[in-house]
Amino acid sequence: MSETPYVSALTGQKILLGVCGGIAAYKSADLLRRLRDQGAEVRVVMTQSAQHFIGATTFQALSGFPVRTSLWDEAAEAAMSHIELARWATRILIAPASANSIARLVQGNADDLLSTVCLASDAPITCAPAMNRLMWANAATQANVSVLKQRGVQFVGPAEGEQACGEVGAGRMSEPQDIIDALVSQTLPQMLAGKKILITAGPTFEDIDPVRFIGNRSSGKMGFALAAAARAMGAEVSLIAGPVSLCTPFNVARTNVRSAAQMRTAVLAALAGQDVYIGAAAVADFTPTNKADQKIKKTQGCLDLDLIPTADILSEVAAHALRPKCVVGFAAETEQVEHYARGKLERKNLDLIAANHVAGAGIGFESEDNALTVFSKTERFDIGKDSKYQVAAALLRIIARQLESKA
Ligand SMILES: Cc1cc2nc3c(=O)[nH]c(=O)nc-3n(C[C@H](O)[C@H](O)[C@H](O)COP(=O)(O)O)c2cc1C
Repeated sequence: MSETPYVSALTGQKILLGVCGGIAAYKSADLLRRLRDQGAEVRVVMTQSAQHFIGATTFQALSGFPVRTSLWDEAAEAAMSHIELARWATRILIAPASANSIARLVQGNADDLLSTVCLASDAPITCAPAMNRLMWANAATQANVSVLKQRGVQFVGPAEGEQACGEVGAGRMSEPQDIIDALVSQTLPQMLAGKKILITAGPTFEDIDPVRFIGNRSSGKMGFALAAAARAMGAEVSLIAGPVSLCTPFNVARTNVRSAAQMRTAVLAALAGQDVYIGAAAVADFTPTNKADQKIKKTQGCLDLDLIPTADILSEVAAHALRPKCVVGFAAETEQVEHYARGKLERKNLDLIAANHVAGAGIGFESEDNALTVFSKTERFDIGKDSKYQVAAALLRIIARQLESKA
C-alpha cells in the first residue's frame, strides 16, 4: 500500500496582490482571506486610486503585513525594497485590475509601485479585470488585453451580470473563489490533456407527486469541483448534474437531469469515447413505483409508499461494452468506511473508489471541504481535508496515473 501526502496547490506560494482603483476592490479583502486559507503568504500593493475605495488597514490586518502603497515610502523601502518585493513574489495577482493599470502594463510604465514591481518580476502575472462593461468592450482595452495575453499574462474573467454602475454586461470582477480556482489550475499539471471525462454530480429527485419528491443531501459541489479541476488539468469534460444550484464550471459541457432514470439515460448517451467515468452523484437507490398525477391529500391519512430499486448506473457503466478505461465510484459511508468501499470496488468492478466518512465533522455533504480515502485493487491513497476543489485535483492526479499505467 502506498500513501500519497497531499498539500494545497497554493500552500507556500508567495502572492503579491495588486489592488487597483475600482468598486470591486472591496472583494479583494475576501480574496486575500481565501488565499491565506489556502496556505499562501500574501503581500498587498495598492495603487493610489485603490485607496479611494478601501483602506490599507483592512489588507494589513488580513495579510499580517504592512501594505505598500508608494514607491516613495522610505521606511518600507528600507525594510524590503521594491526590487526585493518583486523577487519575493512567486505569483502576482492583480485584482481588481483596472482598465488604466492594464493599459499601463502594456506600455511597461514604471511610475508607481505596482507597475514597477510587475516590470521587475519574472513571476507569472494574473489579472482579474473589473470595470464598466463599455470600458471592457472598448477596442483599446481589448487590444491591451490581447497584447498582455500574448506576453503570457493570464486573465480570469471578467464575469457577466449587474454592475455597480447599474449596467448589465461583462465587466464584473470574477468571484474570489473563481479567481482562486484559476490560480490553482495554473499550478495544476496538464495530466489529463486529450482525455475525455464523464462526471455525474448532485442528488437525484424521485417524484412522489407533482409537488413532493424523495431526495438526499448531496450539494453537487464535489462533482462540480471534479469537473472544474479536470477541465483545468486539460480534459474535455461532460458533466451530468442532478438538481443543484451551482454555476457550470468554465468550458464544461453540462446536462441537467432530475431522476435516477434520467441520469442513467444521459450517462449511457454520453459514454462512447470517454476515457474516465466518475460517478460522484448521490443517485437515489429507490424510486416510487408510481408517481401520483395529482397532489396526494393529507386527508387520506397514513401513506404507504411503494418503492422499487433504481438502476445501478455505476455497475452498468463498469460492465458496458463502451466501458471507459477508468471507472471511479464514490462511497459515502457513515461507518466501516474501508470495508464497504472495498466491497463496492470489487462487486462493481471499479478501478478506483473514493470513500468519505460523511459522519465526519465539516466534510462531505453540504460542506465546502472534503477528505477522501481512495482505494484501487492494490493501493490506498489518503487525501487530507481540504477544499473540494483541491481534493478533486488530488483525486484526478491519482486517476491520471491510473490511466498512464493502463496506456
Ligand atoms: C467611483 C469610481 C469607480 C470606478 N470604478 C472603476 C472600475 O471598476 N474599473 C476601472 O477600471 N476603473 C474604475 N474607475 C476609474 C479608475 O479609478 C481610474 O481609471 C484610476 O485612474 C485607476 O487607477 P489605477 O489603475 O492606478 O488603480 C472608477 C472611478 C471612480 C471615480
